[in-house]
Amino acid sequence: MVILRDMIESDIEDYVRWFTAETEWMDWDAPWENEETTPEAERESWTEYFGQVRDLPEDVPRKKFEIELDGRHVGWVSRYFDLDYVENPEKIPAVGIDVPERDARGCGVGTEALRQFIEYLKHCGYRRVYTQTWSGNVRMLRVAEKLGFVPYACVKDLRTVRGQKYDALTLKLELIGEEQP
Ligand SMILES: CC(C)(COP(=O)(O)OP(=O)(O)OC[C@H]1O[C@@H](n2cnc3c(N)ncnc32)[C@H](O)[C@@H]1OP(=O)(O)O)[C@@H](O)C(=O)NCCC(=O)NCCS
Repeated sequence: MVILRDMIESDIEDYVRWFTAETEWMDWDAPWENEETTPEAERESWTEYFGQVRDLPEDVPRKKFEIELDGRHVGWVSRYFDLDYVENPEKIPAVGIDVPERDARGCGVGTEALRQFIEYLKHCGYRRVYTQTWSGNVRMLRVAEKLGFVPYACVKDLRTVRGQKYDALTLKLELIGEEQP
């Protein structure tokens, strides 16, 4: 069973591992952004982050949830407003997802977690969401397609990944029947 939940303290060490040792997921999530880091630096920054979110009141809208599969922490979903190469004056959220645990991928976890997060955003009052990826990320594109996202913006050849050019893609999903102005 897939659930979304707030961060707990034991997640910190998962993040340290995902950002320093088991980093294969980064080959797919914005692989043009490569930052050097260390376990100590990650531990410090995730501990600080946990301190900021650990006691959030129930009614504070969440920017991020942890993904749990059958009781195991396998990744996260998040939202942001500062889109790359797309103006966003209406502050429409873009959703992102990562499932660093490789054995949890490819069996519907990503789609189900993002579906739940989008449902949450709909309850928060949002009427549209975006997601951004690149044309080589076939799994993310398939997840977006399964959830009903449609193409919104494309910048041809903007991304270079492992020596090849790919398009930067933004997709949108209307959460209610009507188009937003
Ligand atoms: C992208 C990601 C979140 C998707 O999660 P997931 O649990 O693997 O997704 P799902 O299993 O729900 O769906 C994946 C779909 O891609 C398909 N797929 C997998 N490999 C594929 C390939 N090589 N070519 C085409 N489709 C592929 C799967 O068959 C599945 O579609 P289906 O349900 O029609 O069979 C996850 O793979 C991940 O974290 N990847 C690394 C980080 C990343 O890319 N993050 C997104 C950055 S924009």
